[in-house]
Amino acid sequence: MNNTSEKPIILGIESSCDDTSVSVLKGNIVLSNVTAGQEVHKQYGGVVPELASRAHQSNIVPVVSTALKEANLKPRDINYVAVTKGPGLLGSLLVGTSFAKSYAHALEIPLLGINHMEGHVIAHFISRDPNFKAPEEPFLCLTVSGGHTQIILVKNALEMELLASTIDDAAGEALDKAAKVLGLPYPGGPVIDKLAKTGNDSAFKFPMPKADGDNYSFSGLKTSFLYQVRDLKKIGTEISEPLIADLCASYQKAVVDYLLLKFKNVLKRTGAKGIAIAGGVSANSLLRQAFSNLADEQNLKLLLPEFEFCTDNGAMIGGVAYYKVAEGNFDGLDLVPSSRLKI
Ligand code: KG4
Ligand code: ZN
Repeated sequence: MNNTSEKPIILGIESSCDDTSVSVLKGNIVLSNVTAGQEVHKQYGGVVPELASRAHQSNIVPVVSTALKEANLKPRDINYVAVTKGPGLLGSLLVGTSFAKSYAHALEIPLLGINHMEGHVIAHFISRDPNFKAPEEPFLCLTVSGGHTQIILVKNALEMELLASTIDDAAGEALDKAAKVLGLPYPGGPVIDKLAKTGNDSAFKFPMPKADGDNYSFSGLKTSFLYQVRDLKKIGTEISEPLIADLCASYQKAVVDYLLLKFKNVLKRTGAKGIAIAGGVSANSLLRQAFSNLADEQNLKLLLPEFEFCTDNGAMIGGVAYYKVAEGNFDGLDLVPSSRLKI
């Protein structure tokens, strides 16, 4: 960097699942955020790891070029390269980390391997708005994605404590699998969100799962949905569009009620004054409404991520790097991704 008082320019690379996403940030302000999704998985109703890594391989170079172009910058302008080092699909992570290492080596700039789950939380610390002010108070964050469901106490951008997680399926996975049972396209979460708007959320009752303590369990809820649809078919009920809407609304309500039930218990214990959601499922309209109601009822500060930063994105990875740069804790070219990396 020529001027040390200038905020650093960071390239953030995310490739842990099925999105190849690259962002250029100046400090915590997002200049560009470009994502190539992977249509190839739609026909399989879920992500096929081998196909995901191949698609990352062909997408990564054009996505980086487009992100630089949109930010109006050249490779030489980049000060740091940040890349997701886990958790995620190993073949997918290897594409991002291998690319990032080569890029950092060629440009002779520092490399930072970033935890994807910290990235989701950092969605609250980044923005496209140059006047954005990052949160300063501690808050309790529910991170809900296709692979994870976690309750995290966020003390600041660099200090996060994992308080609860799922013992089996993630919330997003529970939605995606229900959608698959109904023959809806992947990913099912946003489709259920849309269809639920026209359905009756009390048409079907799904039992609240029973997992001890603060941890979540979604496998029972998912199975009860499967049995409900199977029983309807067994008695010859036509799975019509209005019926699908009722099933989506009732199931989505059960998932959101359950997410809130456990979250409220942890909130009571920690006494946090702010609440947040993060991860792909934080784009869900019912969950956003439920958190907004909770904040109103208990007079809490509410943090809802911008839609662009809910699902996997390179900006959140570059954002974590921005906060870590001050620590000077960089990775070497021997960085190895870890599919089960913990927060
Ligand atoms: O964070 P993300 O992009 O990837 C992972 O790290 O897993 O989350 C993807 C998940 C999928 O399960 C998808 O169905 C869900 O987020 N999702 C939603 C919505 N948008 C994405 N779930 C419910 N409602 C939505 N609007
Ligand atoms: Zn994610």
